[in-house]
Amino acid sequence: MTDTDNDSQLRQRQAEFSKELHGEGAASRSGFSALLAKDKTAQREAVSKYLKHWDGLTDKEAEERRLEDYNESTHSYYNVVTDFYEYGWGSSFHFCRFYKGENFYAAMARHEHYLAYAAGIQQGDLVLDVGCGVGGPAREISRFTNCNVIGLNNNDYQIEKAKYYAKKAGLQDKLDFVKGDFMHMEFEPETFDKVYAIEATCHAPNLEKCYKEIYKVLKPGGKFAVYEWVMTSQYDETNEAHRKIAYEIELGDGIPKMFKVDTARQALENCGFKVLVDEDLAAKGDEVPWYYPLTGEWKYVQTIADIGTFFRTSYLGRKVTSTMVSLMERFGIAPEGSSKVTAALEEAAVGLVAGGREHLFTPMMLFVAQKPMNDEQES
Ligand SMILES: C[S@@+](CC[C@H](N)C(=O)[O-])C[C@H]1O[C@@H](n2cnc3c(N)ncnc32)[C@H](O)[C@@H]1O
Repeated sequence: MTDTDNDSQLRQRQAEFSKELHGEGAASRSGFSALLAKDKTAQREAVSKYLKHWDGLTDKEAEERRLEDYNESTHSYYNVVTDFYEYGWGSSFHFCRFYKGENFYAAMARHEHYLAYAAGIQQGDLVLDVGCGVGGPAREISRFTNCNVIGLNNNDYQIEKAKYYAKKAGLQDKLDFVKGDFMHMEFEPETFDKVYAIEATCHAPNLEKCYKEIYKVLKPGGKFAVYEWVMTSQYDETNEAHRKIAYEIELGDGIPKMFKVDTARQALENCGFKVLVDEDLAAKGDEVPWYYPLTGEWKYVQTIADIGTFFRTSYLGRKVTSTMVSLMERFGIAPEGSSKVTAALEEAAVGLVAGGREHLFTPMMLFVAQKPMNDEQES
């Protein structure tokens, strides 16, 4: 059987599983109502597929197993966390910087605008969003620049939702969302004017191979802008306390392996990109840190409008959610495994805050990289 046959079989299996798990008309449900509508047997299977590699082991063999199974494992992860993400955070699944007095959703949108600006996205550009979630950034960036966006995602449930939200926003002619693996893109070479990725390529088992795919589908002279999740240069893999933080992030965010910033930079250069911008936006000394919604520290809440979001994502709010989910599971209302998911998300929150406070981790390593023109590539 060829790789293409394997890919198409996997794709079909994942699409069928998604229908079974989330049910018909799933795109219009979110949060708790989506959780309660899940097929209980399929949910149990999805949770076990996601958690099967998270056995506390960080040795090379355990890492290899996770890297190899990145596609199914990430697909399963987003099958079980998407509803929680939407409930707690909204429809853009990323972090952002905050200015004093700026509300949460304004700051999130500004972070997306900044990436569009850094990539130089222009009206009419055809842009690829690599790992597009449920399309929050694609909608915002298309509105901001009047560009056309194709979102690539390996999660069927998220694609269905992204299409549903695009239509609801009247953006169906500007946006499209397609199923695919960013490690094996099926677009024609040199299709896109610009490519961006927001906190998604950290799911790649190999950054260089993923960036190579991006390089291939970009037009010569086109730019790729990314907010990459990486461990900073202060991270020491041999330090047990550091590795524990990275492991919590890996486990709770469905990431096979967190790479260091130098690996990402080198990967871009190895692909042939010219790196134009290379800046950790988490290291700009912001008064309100990017991880504040996960801290539970009320002093950081910027506006009254943020209280609901802050409560849901704070330590206390997360405890309330996980207690409710665990009670609902015990009484057979929520599907089995749901509380394991909230426990893993809790672990992620702990690791993310610790990584942020100690500056061992950043979710906003901004790289802007340009594919040279053809004549420059040859010389
Ligand atoms: C943290 S979410 C970010 C989503 C989106 N960029 C946003 O900011 O809202 C990561 C996304 O990457 C997608 N993803 C993970 N692995 C992928 C793969 N191998 N191919 C395509 N998409 C993938 C996930 O399905 C998810 O949508």
